[in-house]
Amino acid sequence: MGLRRLEVTDLRCLRAVEFEIDPHYTLISGANGSGKTSVLEAIYFLGRGRSFRTHRPARLIRTGCERFIVFGEVESQHGVLALGIEGTAERLRARIGGRDAASVAELASHFPVQIIDPDIHQLIELGPAVRRRLIDWGVFHVEPPFLLSWQRYRQALAQRNAALRQRQSASLVGAWDPELVRTGDVVNDARLRYVARLETMAQPLIERLLGMKLELRYRSGWPSELTFDEALRMQLTSDRERGVTQVGPHRAELVVRVDGTAAREHVSRGQQKLLAAALAIAQLRLLESETPDQPTLLLDDPAAELDSEHLSGLIRELRTLRAQLIVTTLDPVFTALGEPGRRFSLQHGQVGP
Ligand SMILES: Nc1ncnc2c1ncn2[C@@H]1O[C@H](COP(=O)(O)OP(=O)(O)O)[C@@H](O)[C@H]1O
Ligand SMILES: [Mg+2]
Repeated sequence: MGLRRLEVTDLRCLRAVEFEIDPHYTLISGANGSGKTSVLEAIYFLGRGRSFRTHRPARLIRTGCERFIVFGEVESQHGVLALGIEGTAERLRARIGGRDAASVAELASHFPVQIIDPDIHQLIELGPAVRRRLIDWGVFHVEPPFLLSWQRYRQALAQRNAALRQRQSASLVGAWDPELVRTGDVVNDARLRYVARLETMAQPLIERLLGMKLELRYRSGWPSELTFDEALRMQLTSDRERGVTQVGPHRAELVVRVDGTAAREHVSRGQQKLLAAALAIAQLRLLESETPDQPTLLLDDPAAELDSEHLSGLIRELRTLRAQLIVTTLDPVFTALGEPGRRFSLQHGQVGP
């Protein structure tokens, strides 16, 4: 797998650019504001159906234009597949193999992509939603049927919440519970299995990079002494008062602990960055060990973020991955990752000489 070709139209400062991507390592250099991160944003969008910089896709549309378009060709053991995404102010439309995709989420199964960028510490620092997304992306790639259960759970949850908001009777609200419990338990079990495997994969990495002992604890989103079914029933009166479902996998949390304390509170910004990067690398390694896929790793300006000792530690780990690397740098003579198969320089949103 991996990206072979990329075309980006009217996305941020990129008017119309095309790249042939190396199967192993592509380096993109350019001054500040030349569009480097925007290229990674376009690639990420192709595999995730969203940006890592904003949750408003309309922000990506080049000023004065009506839509952005990203087109890519990814290679897998089944051959080359064309993926496309178009974003207007109103909606996103994904195309897979020349056909309209049922949902943007479908893109993910064809193009596993991960990013390590200057904001990666947010994975540790922000609220639980970012860590649930991290788990769910990982679970989905090693256990594809997970996606269907998760989508059904979300549908049942939306219906139950609508019933709660409309102050419907306890029995009408409760009518959604069997579906919620059936799908929620599948989601919960898959996440638990995944977090255990991720912890095993990440521990030695974090020991090498930070000299710290990692623990990952998955909290299901309801009191641990109860089943989900019991928790829902216990919470029903309070849910009806508040008009929202307060327990379930949508409230789950992944607690990241190092050396016995919560990483969110006791670890410096620099260590948080390294910790989060190590988790991302562990996810890729897990994916590589459990599927035949070659994932893609985007690295946004790694030299700017880490001191040279931590950077070289990180690079040692990156070298053991099968993943395709696409890296940006301010420094046109960035050599820390060896010689790229292809290199591009960007100037004002255009590919330079
Ligand atoms: N919607 C937009 N339309 C046009 N230009 C944009 C839009 N959003 C951001 N930009 C501009 O795009 C440029 C690209 O920035 P970026 O990709 O972050 O560059 P780099 O990573 O090389 O520093 C910035 O100068 C920014 O002002
Ligand atoms: Mg940038």
